[in-house]
Amino acid sequence: MPDTPEINEYGGYAVFEHFTSAEEIFSYKLGAALTMEHYSLEMLGDLEQTAVRRELKDLFAEHAHETRQQIENLKQCFMLLGEDVNDSPSPMTKGLAKEAKSTTVTTDESLVDAVVLAGALETEHYETAFYETLIAHAQARGAADVVALLRQNLEQEMAAIVKIKEVTKAIARDGIAILDMRAAAGEPPAGDDETGHFTTTGIPPFVPPSSF
Ligand SMILES: [Fe+2]
Repeated sequence: MPDTPEINEYGGYAVFEHFTSAEEIFSYKLGAALTMEHYSLEMLGDLEQTAVRRELKDLFAEHAHETRQQIENLKQCFMLLGEDVNDSPSPMTKGLAKEAKSTTVTTDESLVDAVVLAGALETEHYETAFYETLIAHAQARGAADVVALLRQNLEQEMAAIVKIKEVTKAIARDGIAILDMRAAAGEPPAGDDETGHFTTTGIPPFVPPSSF
């Protein structure tokens, strides 16, 4: 890999000046998967922060945890192949993260969960396609250990898709707008007793000026 990679017209850069073997392409794509997961991890953090419903926050936190493991799996693939880890570009994942961000910042907070879920689902489908290709080529190379690690990643992506779809359907069915933001976030009512009134903390009870 050159010291200062040349940026190509698509915003990425080439690890190899010109691919001349299936192994070089595989290595490039494996590196792109690694970059993809790094962007994905960042995006999941953003989505977790932006989402309002507690179940969405938990879902993104759980998948972020899996994504950290996926990153380690990909590094392990390089090791098993006896190659240096590379960081091929993944402009598509960067673009998906940007699109999700630009839509969430222009969406009302009461509706933002639907947008967050769309961004997550689009990204997970892209990741799935990436692993399906890598697995096919690793199988052709007879790299069984690499296939097993990539399959682990693929299965986690597919499970994430199922969960995101379930929540998307539930929200679409029940109405995407959140009427009670605190309840959706799993927080107690604004007051500190079960009725939402303040008793010992928070805003002090109103005392009319005449009583001073
Ligand atoms: Fe993922």
